[in-house]
Amino acid sequence: MAVYDRFSFCNNLKYALLWTLLLRSIGGGRAAKFDRWESAIRLPSEKDVDVETEVGTRWAILVAGSSGYGNYRHQADVCHAYQLLRKGGLEEENIVVFMYDDIATNPLNPRPGVIINHPQGQDVYAGVPKDYIGENVTSANLYAVLLGDKTKVKGGSGKVVNSKPNDRIFIYYSDHGGPGVLGMPNLPYLYAMDFIEVLKKKHASGGYKEMVIYVEACESGSIFEGIMPNDINVYVTTASNAQESSFGTYCPGTDTPPTPEYITCLGDLYSVAWMEDSETHNLKRETLKQQYQSVKKRTSNFNNYDMGSHVMEYGDTNLTSERLYLYQGFDPAAVNFPPHDHNGRLETRTEMEVVNQRDAELYFMWQMYKRSEDEQEKKTNILKQITETVKHRNHLDGSVALIGTILYGPGKGSSVLNSIRAPGLPLVDDWACLKSMVRVFENHCGSLTQYGMKHMRAFANICNTGISETSTKEACRAACYGYDAGEWHPSINGYSA
Ligand SMILES: *[C@@H]1O[C@H](CO)[C@@H](O)[C@H](O)[C@H]1NC(C)=O
Ligand SMILES: *[C@@H]1O[C@H](CO)[C@@H](O)[C@H](O)[C@H]1NC(C)=O
Repeated sequence: MAVYDRFSFCNNLKYALLWTLLLRSIGGGRAAKFDRWESAIRLPSEKDVDVETEVGTRWAILVAGSSGYGNYRHQADVCHAYQLLRKGGLEEENIVVFMYDDIATNPLNPRPGVIINHPQGQDVYAGVPKDYIGENVTSANLYAVLLGDKTKVKGGSGKVVNSKPNDRIFIYYSDHGGPGVLGMPNLPYLYAMDFIEVLKKKHASGGYKEMVIYVEACESGSIFEGIMPNDINVYVTTASNAQESSFGTYCPGTDTPPTPEYITCLGDLYSVAWMEDSETHNLKRETLKQQYQSVKKRTSNFNNYDMGSHVMEYGDTNLTSERLYLYQGFDPAAVNFPPHDHNGRLETRTEMEVVNQRDAELYFMWQMYKRSEDEQEKKTNILKQITETVKHRNHLDGSVALIGTILYGPGKGSSVLNSIRAPGLPLVDDWACLKSMVRVFENHCGSLTQYGMKHMRAFANICNTGISETSTKEACRAACYGYDAGEWHPSINGYSA
């Protein structure tokens, strides 16, 4: 926070001069008093920065957008982030947690009541407040909480971000996503434009000084690409660009596996990258930009984009010279790690094997299958679930492809539906159109589900090419004729969605 330090130092200097003049004019008899004042005027070194008096309140919102043991990692990420911020000195009353809370007590959890986010990690669950859990984890509640609007909150603890103009807000989200959307354990999903509108509203109300947002999800860049303003004092980084997956890590069967009793991934690559970075650096020194760069390196899996993604930044990049402690607080224990230059620790790491977010669900079921050694009935059951999941994915992929063929003609459908707009352009121009096209599809073809979020770009492109809702309706009806939504049993989601 060089700028800030210099600024406050200048203020102090100004007062020092005033006092000097004032005391000189009073006369030498008061020199002792002056010394006392002088000794209070120190060059603000990192040690001296009085965090509590120099900034407003730090607020945070932490969101795990999924549920189910197969998605263990998202809630583990969020619990870990909570512990990190608490160690940094943020108060519980200033951190709002959204998580489904079905992991710690899940029958598949080998350590009941404990959640870890690293193979050798400590419990990160103890003490995490149950602000918004289960049915109360909704995008509507997230918006109300961020806006500090208690009257719009439904259920939960009622805790909101009641921030003042001088406060800073840190938002961290981890889950599945798709072009233009982020998942939520209860429908509807979070639509990019709705979220951006909430940010603008918060800014217009003078509700913060600055805000930093970290987002882990597939295609998370698409939430901000082309629509994130750079003049509302918000800086964003995302795990992936607008058209790629993000990755789970510490997965069974990879080179950094959890202990054998875990059949699910413990974390996500971008998420553990920023948290493990914060935990090993002096956050009064490290800037947002330095964290962005080291997280980018690690999340790219050291330039291996088959097993990594492009960390992106959006919004007001002028904020990046600020020090991380302004958002994440400062834990003196993190300073005592062995000396290293900023990237030293990470650069000595080897690449990590990862699992694509969308494959993680099937991967989890397969791990479950492999572990159920002697129980034939259970094995058959899991195989059936795997088959049904694959069948349902094929149904979604097939019907979207057929809709493309119907709307644009054979041979053209797929290229139109999958076409990617130039960088800097938003996914879709008319976000209301996108919502209604999704609704039309779901009416005829059943829920898009977590996996189907990947097809959001197809619906966006239907809007971008000016196809009417009526034509889309006809295409959906034809493509999904005879489809019985009841065939898809979301009970499977009890394990894995
Ligand atoms: C949701 O909030 C309501 C009201 O606070 C509460 O009664 C309900 O138990 C909450 N649901 C869960 C799953 O905690
Ligand atoms: C960022 O900094 C540059 C250079 O000081 C300035 O011209 C620009 O207006 C700033 N951007 C915002 C959004 O404040």
